Amino acid sequence: MKNLEPLTLTNIDQTEEDKALQEKVISAGSIPNHIAIIMDGNGRWAEDKGNIRLFGHKAGVESVRDVTESCAQLGVKHLTLYAFSTENWNRPSAEINGLMKLLVNSLQNEAERLHKNNIKLVSIGQIDRLPDTCQSKLQEVIDLTKDNDRLELCLALSYSGRWDIIEAVKKVSKEVQNGNISPEDIDDELISAHLSTADIPDPDLIIRTSGEYRISNFLLWQLAYSELYITHTFWPDFRRDELYEAIFSYQKRDRRYGKVKNGYTKRLSQAVINKIIS
Ligand code: FPP
Repeated sequence: MKNLEPLTLTNIDQTEEDKALQEKVISAGSIPNHIAIIMDGNGRWAEDKGNIRLFGHKAGVESVRDVTESCAQLGVKHLTLYAFSTENWNRPSAEINGLMKLLVNSLQNEAERLHKNNIKLVSIGQIDRLPDTCQSKLQEVIDLTKDNDRLELCLALSYSGRWDIIEAVKKVSKEVQNGNISPEDIDDELISAHLSTADIPDPDLIIRTSGEYRISNFLLWQLAYSELYITHTFWPDFRRDELYEAIFSYQKRDRRYGKVKNGYTKRLSQAVINKIIS
């Protein structure tokens, strides 16, 4: 069994029961290398409690911390969180302002903890659309944590999958125009290398909270073969125990990538094939 590497700060809060649960998760099967999460349901969580939506976003930060730290403890290497989509710019300005302030405060409050836990922060999306205070705080934490290598936490901010693909197509087109490549050179690998996630492997597991069955313009290209886990839990209530459930579910999946089940060797003669399809 893989040893659980202790975390400097988070272990202070980690119960014996949680340690035992993590050991169970680790010994039950492979741990996804990359987990991506659509954190949904903050607004409904707050409204159900008679509060305004911003309370839900604030409570959601606790889930971000808990899930990030438990991913680091389990040995997940990449965690990508859909924190603000391109479409979220269409929300009321008070909610957008609140979310941006919350992002700055959270980055400020969590920076040292992320760093001490050897977590590297990166971001994808149209970062230049964020308010200056957000951009500079984000860059500060990215710089602070750039040499960390336990877990890479990627915040998708002002991000959309279609934007990502459009940007990649523009870059590839320019290379064709400049004569560096020919259209025949364009393949899966080349497109992947021009996406904002070029340095990040595709997600193995995508989790969506709040019971919606859609991808909402998240990592459209990158999710091609990711395993989906959908839960009705709203994001502020999604904590490590449910992350473990998602991983247990992932461990039971048979990832075939369009091929047949491993070990399936039955051969069919042309005559049998003709008989079946006629
Ligand atoms: C979706 O819930 C959530 C968001 C648009 C924002 C997510 C932000 C956080 C969890 C807090 C800040 C994040 C970081 C990384 C510090 P929703 O508002 O769409 O909820 P609803 O579907 O119930 O309306």
